[in-house]
Amino acid sequence: MRKKIVAGNWKMNKTAQEAFVLATEVAELVKSSVSADVQVIMSTPALYLTGVNQVIEGIPNLAVAAQNCHEKASGAYTGEISAPMLASAGVQYVILGHSERRQYFAETNEQLAAKTDAALANGLTPLFCCGESLETREGADFLGHVTQQLTESLFHLSAEEFSKVVIAYEPIWAIGTGLTASSDQAQEMHAYLRAHIAKKYGQSVADSISILYGGSCNAKNAKELFACPDVDGGLIGGASLVAADFITIATSY
Ligand code: PGA
Repeated sequence: MRKKIVAGNWKMNKTAQEAFVLATEVAELVKSSVSADVQVIMSTPALYLTGVNQVIEGIPNLAVAAQNCHEKASGAYTGEISAPMLASAGVQYVILGHSERRQYFAETNEQLAAKTDAALANGLTPLFCCGESLETREGADFLGHVTQQLTESLFHLSAEEFSKVVIAYEPIWAIGTGLTASSDQAQEMHAYLRAHIAKKYGQSVADSISILYGGSCNAKNAKELFACPDVDGGLIGGASLVAADFITIATSY
């Protein structure tokens, strides 16, 4: 059975004090309300990862994720954080290839391949994001565009390495817009990605990979999205900033 995962992406939000309050509320609600077979993740600004890790200590199905890492292990890269640094600070997950990183920081499929290698080499689980713009969605081959992101950034991995990756499909037109992909649109893409993975790595690897949906997923629509056979959870932006909403999503299976 595939792992169910609900990951909150805080992006560049919350002061240190607010982050502590939100993490504490989420921790309490995960303990009291979320099924043990759902992995809940908070992707906080890097500055708060170790503090939030202390808040959530001892809760087996709650973890933190970084929002990015550099592909090099160390060196003269002012402002950057490497995978070994994250791992040594007790971080288990890292979001890679979020569309905002691709758009505002010009991250390419090739660079994301290197970041994925760095994450896996240091025992971090990549939450690898893919997705198409509105322009691409309205064009001929939006399915091919997204599978190409996977092919170019991930398909150099061995089957064993690939099995450790979590995929997040996030249509860019749905991120922060209030426009959600319909459950039919989400299911179509998730099934297509899984079939693409099966062609490369075989059906059993494809069946074991969690594919999350992201893009205006909220407390109201999560149940319908998570009911799709190939949607294994969500990557949640705006709705992860309110503990009650986030936990409603994590209990929407
Ligand atoms: P959103 O963001 O839920 O606010 O649309 C999702 C994401 O960017 O991961």
